[in-house]
Amino acid sequence: MGDNEQVAKLVAGDQEIDLPIMGGSVGPQVIDVSKLYGNTGFFTYDPGFTSTASCESKITYIDGDEGVLLYRGYPIEELAVKSDFPEVSYLLLNGELPNKAEYEQFVHDVTYHTMLHEQMINFYGGFRRDAHPMAIMCGVVGALSAFYHDSTDINDPHQRMVASFRLVAKMPTIAAMAYKYSAGQPFIYPDNSLSYAENFLNMTFSVPAEKYKASPTLSKAMDRIFILHADHEQNASTSTVRLASSSGANPFACIAAGIACLWGPAHGGANEAVLKMLEEVGSVDKIPEFIAKAKDKNDPFRLMGFGHRVYKNYDPRARVMQQTCHEVLGELGITDDPLLDLAMELERIALEDEYFVEKKLYPNVDFYSGIILRAMGFPTSMFTVLFALARTVGWVAQWNEMIEDPMQKIGRPRQLYTGATKRSYVDLDARG
Ligand code: SDX
Repeated sequence: MGDNEQVAKLVAGDQEIDLPIMGGSVGPQVIDVSKLYGNTGFFTYDPGFTSTASCESKITYIDGDEGVLLYRGYPIEELAVKSDFPEVSYLLLNGELPNKAEYEQFVHDVTYHTMLHEQMINFYGGFRRDAHPMAIMCGVVGALSAFYHDSTDINDPHQRMVASFRLVAKMPTIAAMAYKYSAGQPFIYPDNSLSYAENFLNMTFSVPAEKYKASPTLSKAMDRIFILHADHEQNASTSTVRLASSSGANPFACIAAGIACLWGPAHGGANEAVLKMLEEVGSVDKIPEFIAKAKDKNDPFRLMGFGHRVYKNYDPRARVMQQTCHEVLGELGITDDPLLDLAMELERIALEDEYFVEKKLYPNVDFYSGIILRAMGFPTSMFTVLFALARTVGWVAQWNEMIEDPMQKIGRPRQLYTGATKRSYVDLDARG
């Protein structure tokens, strides 16, 4: 260890060890414990990884106490207003904002990968019409490796680049087809004359009998919602993608694993759960009853859309989402959405309740998103699909960063074993 290198001194039993302290460009320093087991025979123990940095990354930074979210150093509030999703996607994937030529080339390359292999349509027909769109998405994305096998060699930078474009470009097509299938409507092909968000809205809401024209406000809102969901450091689904990818599995299978993890109601499935919760609460006078349930240790009910592992302040995405809510409802002429009124009153009451204040539980990205998406015409079952659509670029950026990290190796955590110690087999007729 260098003389001026910072170290953490650990005393464990009769052993004392110096562990290197590493600092990043901003945020908490880390204690490098990679040599701990080899030198002391001790594992660290951190269920849920509440104090564990799983990797080094340059993509997204979150300050949970201050409610700060930066994509490659740019505040989410600025990107949500000044940028668009294709530009943010370029930023996440490449590390810098594109110049005009780079932006136009990126948009072109994404646009010309939006069509799906025609034979993949058969996959949709295998699902029941009432299949949850997330189930369809998990299946279809996992199957991409069967149709795009020429971009599955993760050690070939060109194939990784092609797979990256295919995933970012085809997710809107796959998502829209999942909706159309569940609605019993014909699939609508991508339209290269439309922007990323407009194209998705068109594939979702257009029908052969009537052309759909998304208003600029709704297209901008869709684009902004994609920006807000694009990446979020080492959350559960991103960690799933990284762990799956660490074995060398193909990118399509790893993104499908991320989709499966995101579906959980504690994670990306919360936006769908928030709407169901608001519909269950039903009216302002029922709010105290649900707040009490959320505080009751014996009741598994949680206030969906509230709380966060990292944010102990207002999720900056929730602020932008709430503001977008008002814009979209205003554009749609919805002046008094009872669900929005209910959500805002629920937020007001919760933020004044000492339980939520003491535990620093604030609205997160999922609290308002469902209200906007419902107003835009999406069924509740599509909410997490849209989250997965947007998060794909973050997963792909994190995947590329991990593959290109010279320190990367297969992820293989250990355990604290508390099961039976070694014992001999007992024949059946000798057992009690
Ligand atoms: C996302 O990680 C990410 O970045 C995720 C995400 C992303 O962009 O990828 O931001 C997207 O997943 C947002 C979170 C969406 N989930 C929800 O809205 C579901 C409701 N929230 C909770 O399930 C919970 O807040 C989590 C899962 C989000 C965070 O859980 P933690 O960090 O494990 O916190 P915890 O469960 O240890 O809670 C701390 C305390 C507990 O009480 P005590 O045991 O200390 O007495 O706060 C309580 C919890 O019971 N608590 C809640 C609560 N959330 C936490 N109580 C009531 N309602 C809640 N929503």
